[in-house]
Amino acid sequence: MKEKVLIFDTTLRDGEQSPGASLNVQEKVEIARQLEKLNVDIIEAGFPASSPLQFDAVRQIGEESGKIVAGLCRSVEGDIRSAHEALRNAAHPRIHTFVSTSDIHIMGKFGHERYGRSLDEKRRTILNMAVDAVRFARTFTGDVEFSAEDAGRTDPSYLAEIIEAVIDAGATTVNIPDTTGYTWPSEFGRKIAGLKQRVANIDRATISVHCHNDLGLAVANTLSAIENGARQAECSMNGIGERAGNASLEEIVMALKVRSDLHGYHTDIATEEIYNTSRMVSSFTGLVIQPNKAIVGDNAFSHESGIHQDGMLKNRQTYEVMTPQSVGVPETSIVLGRHSGKHGLQARLESLGYSVSGEELENVYQRFLSVADKKKEVYDDDLRVLMGDELSRPQDAIELDYLHVNSGTASIPTATVRIRSKENTYEESSTGDGPVDACFKAIERALDLGSLVNSYSVRSTTAGRQALGEATVRIEDEGRFHTGRGVSTDIIEASAKAYLQALSLREEARSGGNDNRINNGI
Ligand code: KIV
Ligand code: ZN
Repeated sequence: MKEKVLIFDTTLRDGEQSPGASLNVQEKVEIARQLEKLNVDIIEAGFPASSPLQFDAVRQIGEESGKIVAGLCRSVEGDIRSAHEALRNAAHPRIHTFVSTSDIHIMGKFGHERYGRSLDEKRRTILNMAVDAVRFARTFTGDVEFSAEDAGRTDPSYLAEIIEAVIDAGATTVNIPDTTGYTWPSEFGRKIAGLKQRVANIDRATISVHCHNDLGLAVANTLSAIENGARQAECSMNGIGERAGNASLEEIVMALKVRSDLHGYHTDIATEEIYNTSRMVSSFTGLVIQPNKAIVGDNAFSHESGIHQDGMLKNRQTYEVMTPQSVGVPETSIVLGRHSGKHGLQARLESLGYSVSGEELENVYQRFLSVADKKKEVYDDDLRVLMGDELSRPQDAIELDYLHVNSGTASIPTATVRIRSKENTYEESSTGDGPVDACFKAIERALDLGSLVNSYSVRSTTAGRQALGEATVRIEDEGRFHTGRGVSTDIIEASAKAYLQALSLREEARSGGNDNRINNGI
């Protein structure tokens, strides 16, 4: 009998901390539904104390999901109470509390004298904070996880001491993060084996690991930890997360599955749902998957050279260690068109992992028809982008009413825009360095703004001349980032829509609504 490794998905928490990613509550709920189909064991839904949006997302996911839903919190009472409040109605709530344990973090983050004067005193304070936090969390739920932040660089005897103390205080999972992605696989494996030896009560808790990918070793470190006693792997879809990201869920799961001849572990992941989950996460976060990404990249199952193609035609196993079907890559993409009905569209969206009905379905259907009118064939990736666009729309959006652009090799690019907000309609024109610049300048004039654009990109969602263009605009306002997306067969229109969406999110945040970016103070 193989031993089970629990899959703790942190796409909606650490994944959402990826630079440039931002999700609204609806998008997070939709991804959580897909994670449930993927059959992950634990969904880390967010950091409730960090913003009203985070709180709401954790609450809604907890209320809806049949899985264990975790809320992250620092080792302070207010955060723990907030996680408890958010998870109050969850079927299986988990409070996940953390504090830094490495000397470099302790001295850097807890430098103030109130935490102690010497390193030794500070270590005592941190240990007491961790124990108090776990005890307090246990008054709300029997499922409490403790994370020793930067455990990868923490002194082994201090780490063992703190882990023993939190298990005594009631932690049921103890997480050993390699927060900075610094460790080496055999070294990290020894760290886990060392804890198994040194910590007297270690059998009363599940050992978890959480590896970052700064040196590209996150998956290797996770697998090494599993071989040495870890039974929970924290990971994210497409490996998204802080900086270079987290260990990628699909790589851990498929490595364990494909090389099951080498070891005695298994996961319960429904691997055929990997592809849909990966695409959904990419389209909602705007984080594009590199083509050569293992398992889910566009090229993961493509064979370019003649020798490879010949081998594949004779026997797929010559160059493939797993089948595309085993991770849910569709063999053929069904194409919808202008004559497809609403039910056909709904069924197709459902097979891609999206649950839409009622008004939302009607909205998507109208948008689908206008796209189908322009480009005849609508592919799965077009539908994913449309869904992403539909769900990311802010409530009181500033809309593009009209756009006219004049551009060419021998003329000065000029754009005229008409924009509608809840209260007003604005119209302005501007010239610019190119048509997009002219368009952005016309928007800024109309709304009486300086340039807020921090980054801008545009990509095509499918191959071919009639592909949909998806533009992403990130703006910076008083230290906060807001990311907008726009979709159209016309990339200038897509760009204008993306800018307006980012500006709408800024308005929403300013008026005290949802801060669209997580600010978790880690
Ligand atoms: O990387 C890290 O240490 C974390 C913890 C909060 C688990 O994300
Ligand atoms: Zn992390």
